[in-house]
Amino acid sequence: MVILGIESSCDETAAAVVRDGNLLLSNVIASQIKDHAKFGGVVPEIASRKHIEAIVPVILQALADADLTLEEIDGIAVTKGPGLIGSLLVGLSAAKALAFARRLPLAGVNHLEGHIAAVFLTEHPPEFPFVALVVSGGHTTIYRVEDFQRFTVLGQTRDDAAGEAFDKAAKLLEIGYPGGVVIDRLAKQGNRRAFSFPRGMRNSMDFSFSGLKTSLLTLLRKRAAPFEAGEIPDVAASYQEAICDVLVEKTLRAAAEVSAGRVVICGGVAANSRLRERFRGDASAMGIEVFIPPPVLCTDNAAMIAVVGTHRLESGQRDGWDLNAVSRWPLAAQP
Ligand code: KG4
Ligand code: ZN
Repeated sequence: MVILGIESSCDETAAAVVRDGNLLLSNVIASQIKDHAKFGGVVPEIASRKHIEAIVPVILQALADADLTLEEIDGIAVTKGPGLIGSLLVGLSAAKALAFARRLPLAGVNHLEGHIAAVFLTEHPPEFPFVALVVSGGHTTIYRVEDFQRFTVLGQTRDDAAGEAFDKAAKLLEIGYPGGVVIDRLAKQGNRRAFSFPRGMRNSMDFSFSGLKTSLLTLLRKRAAPFEAGEIPDVAASYQEAICDVLVEKTLRAAAEVSAGRVVICGGVAANSRLRERFRGDASAMGIEVFIPPPVLCTDNAAMIAVVGTHRLESGQRDGWDLNAVSRWPLAAQP
């Protein structure tokens, strides 16, 4: 089964072709980073307009890269939510139009389930069940994953997402956008012990990152002058380490508590080089197997949407022409 995936939930217009739910034939991503950079964050109205410009060329490129025509596609998968409504509607309308014109089955996919499913595009995917940490700009949640569409929440953030903590810190430090990528790069030259930042809610499986952001703000205000350029890598490395510490500690503890020998780390923040290194080191010390998709499949993409769509369509599930976008869509009932 060859599925065309379409993703437009935030600021990336993406299309991809996946065969049999595990073989990536093409993966096209048009980023809007430069359009939002001067605002220091995603501007929803601009995002929608840019999606409209990019969606058709991106889909055509995905088909061309896969060396396939629309006649050779067996179904269409599209992100239904969660995300920005105006952005989601662009991908959704394109998907519906294609499916209608070609009489193809259509599947509306949960973006978070997509992030988890990206791991099935790797050479050694995990078997079910496993524990998954979805860590992105909008979410920080630990799930126990029984199967596709079967999730239990083990822990989640009470305030900011980890990606937000990266992005807000970069904005406070005025070092660029998107924050996670900039901090990852600067931290490589920094001393992780130079500054002390709080690790929130140590004894819970839930997360809190707002205190971390506030402590950076307090540190900045207490100083007479802004950080010198030479100090920024130390701040970045120390701040990043505080985020990595809680993500690694809580996820591995959750895996141990539910006797899951496998953990999957996914979502945009899973592209962080230090987080990847920390998970690999600490998990193997605990005898837990860790699975992390390559960075390009951690940040937003349509290949992950095609994987979920494949399973939905293979099991006979179809969405109708009334398929609509949703801004909020939890993967599992809240505990
Ligand atoms: O999954 P994603 O692309 O979009 C959402 O679904 O939110 O995640 C975006 C988030 C942003 O907060 C961005 O700063 C963060 O992922 N991110 C990173 C890195 N690359 C992207 N955070 C830390 N290190 C990175 N290398
Ligand atoms: Zn995402």
